[in-house]
Amino acid sequence: MKQAVVLILMVATCFGSTVKHQRRFPDDFVFGAATAAYQIEGAWNEDGKGENIWDHETHTNPTVVIDESNGDVAADSYHNYKRDVEMMRELGLDAYRFSISWSRILPTGFANEVNPAGIAYYNNLIDEMLKYNIAPLVTMFHFDMPKKLQDLGGILNPQFSDWFEDYARVVFENFGDRVMKFITFNEPKEYCILTLVGVGSDVKDPILNSMDVATYLCAKNLLLGHAKAYRLYDKEFREKYGGQCGITISVSWFEAATESPEDQEAVELRRQGEWGFFTHPIFSAEGGFPKELKEALTEKSAQENYSCSPLPDFTEEEKDLIRGTADFFGVNHYTAFLVSAIKKESVLTLPNVMNILDNFMFADDEWPKAASSWLTLAPNSIFKALSLLRTLYGDPIFYITENGWSTYEGRDLFDDDRVQYYRASMESMLNCLDAGIKLKGYMAWSLMDNFEWMQGYTERFGLYEVDFSDPARTRTPKKSAFVYKHIIKNRYVDYEYEPENMTMTIDEGH
Ligand code: BGC
Repeated sequence: MKQAVVLILMVATCFGSTVKHQRRFPDDFVFGAATAAYQIEGAWNEDGKGENIWDHETHTNPTVVIDESNGDVAADSYHNYKRDVEMMRELGLDAYRFSISWSRILPTGFANEVNPAGIAYYNNLIDEMLKYNIAPLVTMFHFDMPKKLQDLGGILNPQFSDWFEDYARVVFENFGDRVMKFITFNEPKEYCILTLVGVGSDVKDPILNSMDVATYLCAKNLLLGHAKAYRLYDKEFREKYGGQCGITISVSWFEAATESPEDQEAVELRRQGEWGFFTHPIFSAEGGFPKELKEALTEKSAQENYSCSPLPDFTEEEKDLIRGTADFFGVNHYTAFLVSAIKKESVLTLPNVMNILDNFMFADDEWPKAASSWLTLAPNSIFKALSLLRTLYGDPIFYITENGWSTYEGRDLFDDDRVQYYRASMESMLNCLDAGIKLKGYMAWSLMDNFEWMQGYTERFGLYEVDFSDPARTRTPKKSAFVYKHIIKNRYVDYEYEPENMTMTIDEGH
């Protein structure tokens, strides 16, 4: 009897591991890594680059960043781009997502004056990647608004969408022959609500404390800018180059804390407020801002003595302009939250319609915690999020354009918690593929340690460590880099794999 049990267990174990090995990523699944200009490039005022809002804020108001640091030098990728491409080759990446600094190529933000050195930098980077078959995924706006445009109101200026379209034309004209995937905006919600020098909340934004109405004007203008850039690509560049244009929206997984109808309702509203007001106008058949959100805001505004809702409506024409403007849906997915209907006391000091979402939102105690206060490892959250989006928006093509784990500055290279996180993400993506979700690729955040916005250099997301005290900004692979490389090469998750030593080489063919 005992022997039979042992035999069954052995068979089960073997079968278990065989099953795991059979869950492979298809050969055409795109594995990559991501970064953003201000977080890595440095060279903030070199070769004709214009100032952007992050340069300006960190210089004039350094205490807004926790360690009073800035991106003046960052990982110095402006001078180290060849090493960056070498790292991509070491990892065996199929693609690399980076962003273009608007004011590096258009110093004032306006398209009448193009900076040739800025164009040359991105040409060199793209060409170096293409030499080794690494496909560029280019984000056009990752939080770094040109300062001159900000002086005119930035994204709140009614002409913003035209400025963005002009900028997009310069990008498509200069790089469209080699870049087959463009992402107009990174994380609209974070820019419009949370970003330090966007039009964020009073918690995080001591400068432009204009929450409320600004948040929603930002949403509208950003969506119009996105749509105009997409339509421009469609009309003038798609036929010539055959590429694609999409957008990246951050989609955390929100789950009701209990089964109660109140919590269920709260989670619905939370989803609409967190990502629905960007996904619905683009991806839903109906178009425009989500109905639930509009109603909640109208009600809240009346309670707060506003004469109308701060959410500007779209005209029918604008709705049509925006609807359907994405060849793929870029999802930045990091984490999950449980949502309860219980209201918390508002920490926001302005009269504030955002507090329709001011209910408790928390992580389960069991979920492992990263260095960033908002980041935990929740079970199978990529699958849960994409399953819902797929149902809501008619089976779009997805790319995970960011996903990653933070550790504290000064940790060693053996980042087992990051390894655990990446492996869990892979399993969750394999669940998506098993369910037939059209998930085509994955970009790990981040290729290397970088300037983590308000957290400066105190939180690190890199597969490669960057020594910020070294003028050469030496990059060293962490254990997670070896594990990711192994997954990319073998197309499955091998839990037994341990790097033999921490020496990285470039495999043949890369
Ligand atoms: C942003 C990145 C950021 C990362 C980790 C995303 O919200 O796109 O710029 O570094 O999350 O916080």
